[in-house]
Amino acid sequence: MILSVSGFSKSFGTVRAVDQVSFTVYQGENLCIIGESGSGKSTLAKLMMGLLKADKGKLEGDRRSIQMVFQDPYSSLDPLWTVRSILKEAFCRQKLSVKEQHKQMGQMLLAVGLSADMLNRFPHELSGGERQRIAIARALLTNPKILILDEAVSSLDVLVQKQIVDLLVDIKRQFQLTYIFISHNLRVVRNFSDRIAVMHQGKIIEMGSTHEIFNQPQQKYTQQLIQAAFDYHV
Ligand SMILES: Nc1ncnc2c1ncn2[C@@H]1O[C@H](COP(=O)(O)OP(=O)(O)O)[C@@H](O)[C@H]1O
Ligand SMILES: [Mg+2]
Repeated sequence: MILSVSGFSKSFGTVRAVDQVSFTVYQGENLCIIGESGSGKSTLAKLMMGLLKADKGKLEGDRRSIQMVFQDPYSSLDPLWTVRSILKEAFCRQKLSVKEQHKQMGQMLLAVGLSADMLNRFPHELSGGERQRIAIARALLTNPKILILDEAVSSLDVLVQKQIVDLLVDIKRQFQLTYIFISHNLRVVRNFSDRIAVMHQGKIIEMGSTHEIFNQPQQKYTQQLIQAAFDYHV
């Protein structure tokens, strides 16, 4: 076990965004959380990160080892900052010399498929995929063990989506990470996840191996979700 959540609940007014959610995450796995928009996935992620305070419930594990990558890299990267300043922020809790910081930034840019000459650019001078690579690099520079990827490829077009998923597979191995991959895109999830948790109206209604969820979904809602994703061809 690397992380465990029990009885997590969070309401906004009368909306129970997250409702008595419990689950365990195992070292090195890729746990995907699926569910339609509004089912509480992002709220759950923010509770795990400590960006929101739970009304009830507790988390076991090292919160400082969790990092998050958000859906929209444009709004998660400060437009007035260069890539260098954006990445440097990752070092705020580490005591590193300027030289060591530059070395690590250069290496990390390479690890995410970019080059060191990106350091002087601003977010608007990057493509969507490049911005998401910067967000991933920033997260990795804090030495996380767990990466929460909240719709991290959802705003990218399909080809770029594929490139970023390939990158995520690669760095997961390289940095020995555990993923909590949040997505409403079941096509991405099917090829990528080890286990799947299905969220509906703030609750995890079903959880199982990727094979189980796709081939023997127990809940009617899960069946509908899978059918809707693969039924139509556009
Ligand atoms: N800061 C907030 N204030 C009020 N309601 C919120 C807030 N954040 C989320 N919600 C509500 O909580 C529910 C779950 O939202 P969210 O966790 O963003 O779902 P998802 O990520 O699955 O789309 C929704 O009904 C949403 O409107
Ligand atoms: Mg969300």
